[in-house]
Amino acid sequence: MNNSRLMTPFAAPAEGVVSLPGSKSHTNRALLCAALSEGTSRLSGVLFAEDTEAMLKAIVSLGATVEADRKNFEIEVTGLAGAPMFRDLIIDARLSGTTSRFLLPTLAAGKGEVTLDGAPQLRSRPFAEQIEALRNLGCDLEELGTPGGLPIKLASRGLEGGEVEISAETSSQFVSGLMLAAPLYPSGLKIRLVGPPVSRPYLNLTIKVMRDFGVSVDEPDGLTYIVPPGRYLAADLRIEPDASAASYFFAAASITQGRVKVVGLHRESYQGDVRFADVLEQLGAKVVWGENYIEVQGDRIRGGIFDLRDFSDTAQTLAALAAFAESDIEITGIGFIRRKETDRIAGMVTELAKCGVEAIEREDGLIVRPDLWSLRGASVDTYGDHRMAMSMALLSLRVPGVTINDHDCVAKTFPAFFSCLEGLRPKVKPRGKVVAVAAIDGPAGSGKSTVARLLATELRLPHFDTGAMYRAVAVAALRAGIDPGDQDATTDLAERTEISISDRTFIDGVDATDEIRTPEISQWVSVVAANPGVRRVLVARQRKWATELGGGVMEGRDIGTEVFPDAIFKAFVTAQPEVRARRRYDESSVQTLGDVADDLERRDRIDSTRTDSPLQVAPGAVVVDTSELTIQEVVSELASMFRSVVED
Ligand code: DC
Repeated sequence: MNNSRLMTPFAAPAEGVVSLPGSKSHTNRALLCAALSEGTSRLSGVLFAEDTEAMLKAIVSLGATVEADRKNFEIEVTGLAGAPMFRDLIIDARLSGTTSRFLLPTLAAGKGEVTLDGAPQLRSRPFAEQIEALRNLGCDLEELGTPGGLPIKLASRGLEGGEVEISAETSSQFVSGLMLAAPLYPSGLKIRLVGPPVSRPYLNLTIKVMRDFGVSVDEPDGLTYIVPPGRYLAADLRIEPDASAASYFFAAASITQGRVKVVGLHRESYQGDVRFADVLEQLGAKVVWGENYIEVQGDRIRGGIFDLRDFSDTAQTLAALAAFAESDIEITGIGFIRRKETDRIAGMVTELAKCGVEAIEREDGLIVRPDLWSLRGASVDTYGDHRMAMSMALLSLRVPGVTINDHDCVAKTFPAFFSCLEGLRPKVKPRGKVVAVAAIDGPAGSGKSTVARLLATELRLPHFDTGAMYRAVAVAALRAGIDPGDQDATTDLAERTEISISDRTFIDGVDATDEIRTPEISQWVSVVAANPGVRRVLVARQRKWATELGGGVMEGRDIGTEVFPDAIFKAFVTAQPEVRARRRYDESSVQTLGDVADDLERRDRIDSTRTDSPLQVAPGAVVVDTSELTIQEVVSELASMFRSVVED
């Protein structure tokens, strides 16, 4: 597919201040109010994207005068001062749910014949509840295609208004559309919801925008909205940055352990999606709520259960982020997002699975079971859904080989998404205290050692094989007749033993290059490496060497987590267990393949469950599954990632 985008991971903390495009939801509400107002409104910070262009074109076809300054995100709208009149008009809402559902009740208030249509994807989205409500109010409308969907033809004679019941359990947009049109109805409108609405904050946003244009909505209880008849008055207003779009950048900070600030959003923002920052905070990130910004600093990503009914546009963001969590993340309350641009729950479950992430579909949400060792790149489908593309792009921050198919679908709400994300790629200058360490961790048989050695050559940096040091201590213990399980004696010995690990390994000046690799030593080394005393001694030496040499490619099990948690580049190299066993077996066939596999499993278990510095994917590290890659491919991938963050 030529409309595919191969992403390059960050492998380092995302960093920066993002200025986001305007909110789609805010823009489209303001555009419609301005179009119905008396006088000229001036909107700034406007979003220009497919969904808002659809609304713009529609209000122009209804007779509003529009002057758009796309470069400065500003727009002037001179309104109709009331309900529209039309004759045989066709309005194409394209892919836009807001445009179509906001307009339908307004068209019903007008006079003349009009057809509301949209792209095939929009035609298959639900409209039934709104159609029924309008019919009950006396509107003459006909579904030209499937019942309950677009295209819809109206023979409008104005609408008196009065009282209406409606369900907002599929979409709150049905209610927002009715509220926005209600001042045009001579009797106004009392809307009674038959049950609690989804996405309630969007109803609040509608009320706030209507108030900005001079109409107040009364909300006597959580299920009734009363809109008096009246006139919208032109207003000058600033559209807020898009809070749903902000979720991707906040998540990027969290996933990469970076720090990202979004200006123009704050606790009192009109948009409910700012609450995504609360979710990140509960997961372990640090969030600063400024007067006119929100800043997220990545830290832990714990697990948890989150009900996103009120801000479901961030559900896919959370599902993608969950791939990097410490434990399960369950998202509930979002069954209705199956009827958005695509079935978003099924879409995420399928695409996460392609990237090695287990996700379980539930009727009203999903559960993500993260296993960082299994992450792998894949060609990801987006189903024409901008949020699929933007969410799945988050995986690519720490997983190479992620390709986003049909990435252009982001144009629906955020044409510049990918360049904005790229703007957060950190650039580090290794100098002074910042040591250019590339931390390469991973289990045995992952290809890590070969990769690290070649990467060091490629980058012209020193190479440190820290595993050889632990092996050297095991050799020294056996040579000295010390039981490697005797923690104090082995620690004492480690302190006294001189170990050199360049091309060859020397223990107190004696070459032990071959000896450290024998099966006997491979058996003992996990015991030695689980000894906190030995670790303390060796970690101190590792830090000292790397610092003295100004950095290098350092491989081991705890480099990114313990030895250099601030390394400017961190990778976790892994491979599927069968592949790792086969590789080890091919290296030396002293043991059977089954024994090699058992041995690896045993060492994985000891290494990853020991209390002191267990083998884990370091926070923020890129995860490279080498199962289906050649060594050279892995090395080039790592080298290009390293170069993308390190300035010469
Ligand atoms: O990478 P290797 O197989 O040579 O590592 C030998 C052992 O040392 C292995 O059991 C993990 C352990 N090790 C460690 O605990 N910390 C490191 N930084 C490197 C290796």
